[in-house]
Amino acid sequence: MLGYKIKIRVWLCILVACKISSALNNGLALTPPMGWLAWQRFRCTIDCETFPDECVSEQLFMTTADLLVSEGYDKVGYKYVVIDDCWMTHNRTADGKLQADEKRFPHGIKALADYVHSKGLKFGIYESVGTKSCEGYAGIKGYEKIDAQTFAEWGVDYVKLDGCYTDERKMDTNFPQFGKYLNETGRPMIYSCCWPFYQEGKGMQVNYTLVSQSCNLWRNYGDIQESYDSLINVLDNFAVKQDIWAQYAGPGHWNDPDMLLIGNFALSHEQSQTQMALWAILAAPLFMSNKLSTVQPNFKKILQNTDVIGINQDKLGIQGKRVYKDQGIEIWSKPIEPKEEEYYSYAIAFVNRRTIGTPFPYNITLNNLGLNNPIGYKIKMHITKVNYKSILIYIFFFIVLCTNHKNLFDGTTTKEILKPDSLLKVIVNPSGVVLLRANIISKYEYIHGRYI
Ligand SMILES: *[C@@H]1O[C@H](CO)[C@@H](O)[C@H](O)[C@H]1NC(C)=O
Ligand SMILES: *[C@@H]1O[C@H](CO)[C@@H](O)[C@H](O)[C@H]1NC(C)=O
Ligand SMILES: *[C@@H]1O[C@H](CO)[C@@H](O)[C@H](O)[C@H]1NC(C)=O
Ligand SMILES: *[C@@H]1O[C@H](CO)[C@@H](O)[C@H](O)[C@H]1NC(C)=O
Repeated sequence: MLGYKIKIRVWLCILVACKISSALNNGLALTPPMGWLAWQRFRCTIDCETFPDECVSEQLFMTTADLLVSEGYDKVGYKYVVIDDCWMTHNRTADGKLQADEKRFPHGIKALADYVHSKGLKFGIYESVGTKSCEGYAGIKGYEKIDAQTFAEWGVDYVKLDGCYTDERKMDTNFPQFGKYLNETGRPMIYSCCWPFYQEGKGMQVNYTLVSQSCNLWRNYGDIQESYDSLINVLDNFAVKQDIWAQYAGPGHWNDPDMLLIGNFALSHEQSQTQMALWAILAAPLFMSNKLSTVQPNFKKILQNTDVIGINQDKLGIQGKRVYKDQGIEIWSKPIEPKEEEYYSYAIAFVNRRTIGTPFPYNITLNNLGLNNPIGYKIKMHITKVNYKSILIYIFFFIVLCTNHKNLFDGTTTKEILKPDSLLKVIVNPSGVVLLRANIISKYEYIHGRYI
């Protein structure tokens, strides 16, 4: 029990005392930004003969923009289409400007941005703060002001700035300075910085106060790769560092655990739900990196689950934490709206890290998770435990006080009111997750001993 008390104290610290005072104030990314980013799935594929529909080219980004709209991703929030490395040439134009590779981007970046905008979407681009990009193309060093201006002229809405070919010790100067140039263009552009990732990698003390004053989001840790192990490695690192990192997340400024792998080769159905649930809990930017034309329906459904996205996009913008670890089960929680007085609602995820083949039953009382609203909570389950046959119906088991056995379909709210001493009982599939939402019941819904 001592363990719980310590965890709960950590939350109080986050919620009350340790809020940071000022952050980047460009009015953007007030909830975690959502969209699509090329890197994880498409890397630096420049061979358009072998990979005609997978090479980094205007065709890839136009097709992606088309599919974001026609497949309904834009409607649930995925708005930013972001290019990563390898779009530009090695050398600048005679007057010192960046230029796109003319074979792969024959109409230029401005035309591509216009196309993306014509679809009602936003357009993002990539550069690196050093002399070269990570793949060796032209970097911004020495041309910062002109590049910020060029991005604004092209209609860029989002800039991802990487950190190759520079000295990590200079990042505290050169990242904020480029942010200043972006600001001076007068065009609102979300600013995504890889700065802490490089400094953390060198074992340096990162000044997150400065980072969160300068950037809308930032990568803290290494690139996510195409595997469940990589996903778990990122999560473990976020858990280990949560008491330092989480306090810097909030409206306009976010820690970024990197892209969603969902819909690609490596993650199973269960593992995809685990990533989606945990990225929601972490208030992480949600950037898919997949080939949208080949995403199977079950993965598309996970990516478009508005209940889960709702947790990610919660207006309070509090980054969730791992609060409990027991028998291979991890419990992660995130305070969310609605809140009343000192009581928050919570998103809670049970993650099964066991490698035993059977689903694992687990129980815990609400107050052991810090859910102490005396009037109680309504519970809503989001992510399946059991996927029956291949049909798209997700069935949940939810058992209250060991007596009521309930099967709940996706998105159903339980009729029961759970009190702080009520037992929450779940069954979690190996490498899967059970995600639920516990909404506080307002005292105004509880009058004369009855719920109204
Ligand atoms: C880029 O410029 C350098 C010198 O500034 C030159 O040596 C090199 O050939 C140029 N590369 C290309 C691809 O034009
Ligand atoms: C520039 O910074 C100022 C001060 O933080 C802010 O009010 C303004 O919205 C910013 N403008 C842009 C275009 O980012
Ligand atoms: C970190 O950045 C803040 C904001 O610019 C500054 O006030 C503070 O002195 C910096 N801390 C360190 C240790 O450099
Ligand atoms: C709760 O889990 C424990 C094992 O951790 C088990 O012994 C107990 O029977 C479970 N309680 C209920 C009511 O299922």
